[in-house]
Amino acid sequence: MGGKAWGRVTVDLDPMASSPATDRPAPADDVRDDAGRRPMFPDGPAARPHPGAHHERRIRTFHPRRGRVTDAQADAINRLWRRWGLDIDGTPLDLAALFAPGRGGDAAQDSPGTPPPPVVLEIGFGMGDATAAMAAADPATGILAVDVHTPGQGNLLHLAEDAGLENVRVGNGDAVVLLRDMLAPASLAGLRVYFPDPWPKARHHKRRLIQPEFVRLAVSRLAPGAVVHCATDWEPYAEQMLEVLSAEPALRNEHDGYAPRPAFRPMTKFERQGLAKGHVVHDLLFTRV
Ligand SMILES: C[S@@+](CC[C@H](N)C(=O)[O-])C[C@H]1O[C@@H](n2cnc3c(N)ncnc32)[C@H](O)[C@@H]1O
Repeated sequence: MGGKAWGRVTVDLDPMASSPATDRPAPADDVRDDAGRRPMFPDGPAARPHPGAHHERRIRTFHPRRGRVTDAQADAINRLWRRWGLDIDGTPLDLAALFAPGRGGDAAQDSPGTPPPPVVLEIGFGMGDATAAMAAADPATGILAVDVHTPGQGNLLHLAEDAGLENVRVGNGDAVVLLRDMLAPASLAGLRVYFPDPWPKARHHKRRLIQPEFVRLAVSRLAPGAVVHCATDWEPYAEQMLEVLSAEPALRNEHDGYAPRPAFRPMTKFERQGLAKGHVVHDLLFTRV
């Protein structure tokens, strides 16, 4: 069952589900989905963005999450989702419109005719600290950051607002659906996948994101010259990434094997945890030919 979190209540935050209609007061406009459920946040992500969009994929690459949404995160989602959020709902996406300057804000009036930025997709941003730092360091690039983790979405929106980042958009849902159904061929200037879930058990390997079929799909959405940047602290997954990315004819490895850690990639939460366990981190940098 899906859940909700107001204030400091800890509940089931499966983003693929929505909250039962009875467990909190009705919002003023009482918007419900087809099954009569209300969305988790009145002005946040859709309760179930696209019937079937998530569920038709039988193998998920992410864990259903339990977590606590803090007051600040809930507030950021409610206030900023309409402006900077994206429901992964299967609808073809106009990236230029999504990244129009000041979308939802006054700045749109101030910057008529500003060309849209090149857009890099980050899959699985977690709490979003690295995403926000990279966006701040490169304001000319649009970052489309996608995850299913509600506290992280709230955190990243909060960070983006605090730092005045106009170049971050936050997607809720499955990045595979985004790539498959919503993004046009050759529309992305890059792809970042930092510390994807390693799924260490053999019976779960099928859930790993970096697989030949996924890479073929992702590459089809990349413009020539786009960079694919992956990082992991899980050695067997690093080997799988190297093998799968090297076998994709439309990608060229920029290094002989693993890449040296690029200075532009900030330390992420999962990287820190991996290093504390003594894991070795590998980066991989490939270019779309
Ligand atoms: C291990 S965490 C790493 C988070 C962050 N990159 C870091 O290094 O701290 C992996 C994240 O990827 C997300 N994820 C996995 N598969 C995904 C998918 N198909 N679409 C969107 N997010 C996904 C998970 O929800 C999770 O937050």
